[in-house]
Amino acid sequence: MLKRLLCTAVVMALGTLPVAASEEESEYGLLVDKPGAEETFIYCTACHSERIVAQQGLSRTDWKALFVWMEDEQEMEPIEEPDYSIIIDYLSEHYNTDRPNFPKR
Ligand code: HEC
Repeated sequence: MLKRLLCTAVVMALGTLPVAASEEESEYGLLVDKPGAEETFIYCTACHSERIVAQQGLSRTDWKALFVWMEDEQEMEPIEEPDYSIIIDYLSEHYNTDRPNFPKR
């Protein structure tokens, strides 16, 4: 007589692991949650991570120049007003040469 080994499939219900939200993590990834973060995040993460933005520290003039470079060399669509000013204001306030929000991770 053939003995049949019945394997009982134990279905392990995997509970959702609680996600420990880091204090530095904002809704916009590494970008500080201040006015303008949303616009910046939407426009600037279309092609690359926000990290490349957050670890940059530029003056207002240099941010503007970087946008020109991004348009000329990286095929970024020109950003229309009012978003252009919102993003430039945000970047030159929070990601200026003193790098107040340089990502720690
Ligand atoms: C159309 C695609 C695209 C968009 C949109 C875009 N970028 Fe970029 N960006 C690039 C590419 C491509 C590079 C080069 C990446 C590399 O060298 O690995 C780059 C590089 C950069 C760098 C690094 C420059 C350097 O000197 O190394 C910064 C800072 C940056 N982008 C900021 C921004 C910001 C701020 C925005 C939003 C206003 C933005 N990018 C939107 C394509 C884009």
